[in-house]
Amino acid sequence: MGRWTVARGMPSTKALETVVLSLGGSVFRTGTGDAEYLRKLAALLRGVAVRARLVVTTGGGRTARDYIELGRELGLTDVELDEVGIDVTRLHARLLAALLGPPVPPVPAGSIAEAVRESHRGTTVVLGGTEPGHTTDGVAALLATRLRAVRLVNATSVSGLFDRDPRKDPKAVRIDRIGWEEFRARLVGLGRARPGQEFVFDQLGAELLARARIPIYIVDGRDLAELESALLGRAFQGTRVE
Ligand code: UTP
Repeated sequence: MGRWTVARGMPSTKALETVVLSLGGSVFRTGTGDAEYLRKLAALLRGVAVRARLVVTTGGGRTARDYIELGRELGLTDVELDEVGIDVTRLHARLLAALLGPPVPPVPAGSIAEAVRESHRGTTVVLGGTEPGHTTDGVAALLATRLRAVRLVNATSVSGLFDRDPRKDPKAVRIDRIGWEEFRARLVGLGRARPGQEFVFDQLGAELLARARIPIYIVDGRDLAELESALLGRAFQGTRVE
């Protein structure tokens, strides 16, 4: 008897590939045309979810950073600041889940295990942060390795990884392809992350994905055509870490 026995009423064993999307909070709410963008994003995700098992994490962006800054001024500990950040990421997850509608669970999963269970049920999963010490990129990476994803797409506010900060230096050049080792070395070079700190990708996440050899596609999240191509594994404008 084969490893997979299909009993009557059981879902098909011909599983869809899993794709994880880490949606940066900086993309999610920029203040310009957010509602319009989110409606189009939801339509895009519904389309992708027909072709792949989709898991989406939502970042906290500027809203999280504002509260973390306030909390820091008030003397909260780093763990408490992380928890404030997590709550904001979950707020964004709730918003996106409501927009996608059933069968996406309206309350974001609170842990990796819960998200894995939901994904195995066959629905698109939307969640924010889980525990202190990493960002939602880290959550996305944990889920990508746990669900053996074929790729993790990091939708961010810039169109990929650059040799310098493109927001500060117009001469910055995008790196279209980079190996995991070099990518990790660049992140480590930036030092240890603090609550609310913006990095191109989470260090823990990069470590996990490198070990599992899961490619990371970095793309401008506001450019929906490029985002869709990256999610579907087609050619896109951005950076491939592989
Ligand atoms: P984000 O995932 O938004 O981090 O979490 P970020 O690097 O600022 O990403 P962008 O700008 O949204 O793309 C915000 C903060 O929430 C806490 C951390 O303090 C993080 O900096 N957090 C988030 C956690 O502690 N654990 C999590 O699982 C997620």
